[in-house]
Amino acid sequence: MAKTIQSIRGMHDILPEQSAAWQYLESTVRQLLARYSYREIRTPIVEVTELFKRAVGEVTDIVEKEMYTFEDRNGESLSLRPEGTASCVRAGIEHGLFYNQQQRIWYTGPMFRHERPQKGRYRQFHQVGVEAFGIASPDIDAELIAISARLWQELGLKNVRLELNSLGTPASRAVYREKLIEYFSAHLDALDEEAKQRLHSNPLRILDTKHPATRLIADAAPSLHDYLDPESKQHFEQLCNMLEAMGIPYRINPRLVRGLDYYSRTVFEWITEELGSQGTICAGGRYDGLVSQMGGQETPACGFAMGMERLLELMQTQEQTLNAVAPDLYLVLAGEHASATGIVLAEKLRTELPKLKLQVNAGGGSIKTQMKRADKSGARYALILGEQELAAGTIGFKPMQDAAIEQVSLKLTELSHYLASKFN
Ligand code: HAM
Repeated sequence: MAKTIQSIRGMHDILPEQSAAWQYLESTVRQLLARYSYREIRTPIVEVTELFKRAVGEVTDIVEKEMYTFEDRNGESLSLRPEGTASCVRAGIEHGLFYNQQQRIWYTGPMFRHERPQKGRYRQFHQVGVEAFGIASPDIDAELIAISARLWQELGLKNVRLELNSLGTPASRAVYREKLIEYFSAHLDALDEEAKQRLHSNPLRILDTKHPATRLIADAAPSLHDYLDPESKQHFEQLCNMLEAMGIPYRINPRLVRGLDYYSRTVFEWITEELGSQGTICAGGRYDGLVSQMGGQETPACGFAMGMERLLELMQTQEQTLNAVAPDLYLVLAGEHASATGIVLAEKLRTELPKLKLQVNAGGGSIKTQMKRADKSGARYALILGEQELAAGTIGFKPMQDAAIEQVSLKLTELSHYLASKFN
């Protein structure tokens, strides 16, 4: 037999049994972003390598070690995109989207990073990214954070915390950078090899080290907050006030620096402890200098991206993926008469309540069998129609997830009114 071919390590098929959860997540995100008036942009998956070198930064892990880079047939160096912000900036400049305008945009699709694969870390993974251009004030930072907070709520996700920091302006960071080099140089012998290498190229990255000995030294390092310029401080305070006013809890983490070079001022991450070491489900921040650095007009910008695989894993852990496929109602039909009436009733309900997810029992079966099917479907409620109910013009309504709650009897004439109040 011929040798079979496998998918590339760290790149996965999304199988039919998984796609309902993906579609549910994607459509929830899509609808939410439309409510905030963000519009989609679609950019190519392949870009010239130079784009990521200049945008993400030459001395970042992504550009140094993780890009899928190749020469095309004309000898031009191209890369599979490791993230989406750089492409948004390129496209915005190329098509004049930034000049004297505000833009709220989002994108989704596969990203590629040659990292060491493990749970929650893949070589092909999917992001939804959200970016706002042309707005310098912290209200847009707050809006972006509010979008993500609302998404967790809509997906039913719990135990995710928001960590927040400000990196200041490039000028204030340059002063801090010198202080850090001075500080870490005084502890050079105790630093690990990677930290030593980063000492002069990217000393801020040493702050989020996972190496235990370096960690101790990094914990006692001077704090970036003591070096922030007054405008950045004010921006940060205003953002914190807005988050408090909206009731979004956060934790200030002065060690949060992010792995991409383009950030200034606000940076944030949403983190869960329930996914092991790859617990960051969403991350982003402000990048006011990037558009001009890439050849466009000065354009303030802010955004974030979330890892879809990690979100789905968290939904699974917290048993929220069932929402993707589970009907609201399962219609149990006992007896021939009820079967014939039931299918008509179901069509009427679907016309009257277009958002209702309704599964109708088909192929008969005893009430017990049908209730088992209802249970397996994950439906929140069962509607039960038998000969007795038909004769009385009623229908049984039973919560499936709480055995303690009794079945109630509803008048058939009032059913759609009742369901509308329950499911809208
Ligand atoms: P990032 O932190 O590199 O930021 O990635 C954002 C999110 O993508 C991460 O928090 C994580 O959920 C997911 N992610 C990253 N790498 C992997 C991987 N190898 N496997 C699975 N999931 C992964 C950015 O990409 C920025 N472009 C975000 C941004 C947008 N900043 C401003 N605007």
